Amino acid sequence: MAGTEEPLWRELSGWRGAEGAKTFPYDAVIDHLREVGKHFLSPRLLALLDTCRQSLAERTGEGDTYLARFLDVLLDKYDGSYDYPSYTGLPLFQQSAPEPAEPAGNWTATRHRRDRLVLLLLADLIEFEQLVLDGTPADPQGALPDPALLGKRLRLAVRVMEPAALRVLDSAVDPVSVAATPGRTPARPLAMAVLAAAADEERLLLRTSVQPVYVLHDEYLFLRVLQTFETTFAFMSRTLDAAVRALTGEQPGDAATLIASVADVLRESLPLFSLLATMQPESFQVFRQYTDGASAIQSEGYKTFETYCSTPARARLDSPAFTAVPRVREAVLAGRETVQGTWEDVVASGWLTEQDAGAVRAAARQLEAVHQRWKQTHYRLAVRMIGERTGTGSTEGVPYLKSVIANRLFPAVQSGPSPVAGPALEQQPAAG
Ligand code: HEM
Repeated sequence: MAGTEEPLWRELSGWRGAEGAKTFPYDAVIDHLREVGKHFLSPRLLALLDTCRQSLAERTGEGDTYLARFLDVLLDKYDGSYDYPSYTGLPLFQQSAPEPAEPAGNWTATRHRRDRLVLLLLADLIEFEQLVLDGTPADPQGALPDPALLGKRLRLAVRVMEPAALRVLDSAVDPVSVAATPGRTPARPLAMAVLAAAADEERLLLRTSVQPVYVLHDEYLFLRVLQTFETTFAFMSRTLDAAVRALTGEQPGDAATLIASVADVLRESLPLFSLLATMQPESFQVFRQYTDGASAIQSEGYKTFETYCSTPARARLDSPAFTAVPRVREAVLAGRETVQGTWEDVVASGWLTEQDAGAVRAAARQLEAVHQRWKQTHYRLAVRMIGERTGTGSTEGVPYLKSVIANRLFPAVQSGPSPVAGPALEQQPAAG
């Protein structure tokens, strides 16, 4: 039995008597989980956590407190509800009250929220990796990478943070050196500046949202990268929704700015794949045995973004790409309005000037090009990490990813030559 189980057992047994979510021993639960892996929590501990969940529901009468969501994420394998959202802890990132739809003119507030969360997630990753460099690694700590690989990891995390930091942090990043050599901002001071400004609920989110299934160090990186992409997809979906509404509003030309901002943020996020390519393939092959059933093919954020661009072809809607996200599929079948569909209507009605129509078309082309690069890079990463193995989302794996590259977000827009060359993943130093 792991050393942390017995003290945790006692704390949890005591907590059932004590009232209130504020006294819940989050730290002890997370420390134990990261020592053994979610897949290996003991049956008696899982049963006790389930009892805690029931007594919480009886006491508060509410199923949607942060603690209730935390326990649902923690108990996903026990409940048989384990999937990609629960593996990546996405329910923990939900706001208690749904955010109101953003007016088109206020999209910078939506981007500000995305930028802040991305900075927090990557600053937390930097702190976690820095502990290894300092000689005091925290769990999970199996198969620690060597310092050269960790140094590269920090630099790539910084590279994704810099554009967001330039927008939301005063003077933590030097715009001139970022423009000259991206990724050279010192990682530790940047992470500390971000974390120093974190609110209590953000600290709780960071502390509780990495729930690895096994005990290998690199799974922490994997989870933080997935969460950072999901944060970005959420921004992209909300902003494209605003673009659709802008097209039929008083200032239809604003749609071009919104679509261009989506393209920019996705472009800035591409180095996340190089960051993830520093994951040691041998570690991934071990811990993915326990992630079966959780695949990003179930990402509602990604499919929502896609379906705000244009309505997918029926064959794709009926394929695993969309049967894996039934709520998004239903929204499409119920007639979700899209940028391409709305734009064709407003052009036909004469509502959009030639100049605005040209700007929207140019922004859509930019987004198409950067999304093609996203798919190419994702494909190459999968080749490196899993080769000919099948996916965890019950597709044949790499051949599936190759087949989706031909899809287009805006099939009605002539996109010019496809940028199939895409960016290469950076070469990795030999893994330690
Ligand atoms: C080790 C790295 C990765 C590997 C080996 C990998 C592999 C795969 C595979 C094999 C699929 C096909 C579905 C399945 O059977 O699972 C897939 C789908 C997908 N992955 Fe990844 N992936 C990786 C990283 C990522 C990351 C970081 C993201 C960002 C969120 C991501 C997003 C997606 C999405 C959105 C799909 C669905 C694509 C579609 O249906 O068109 N993947 N991935």
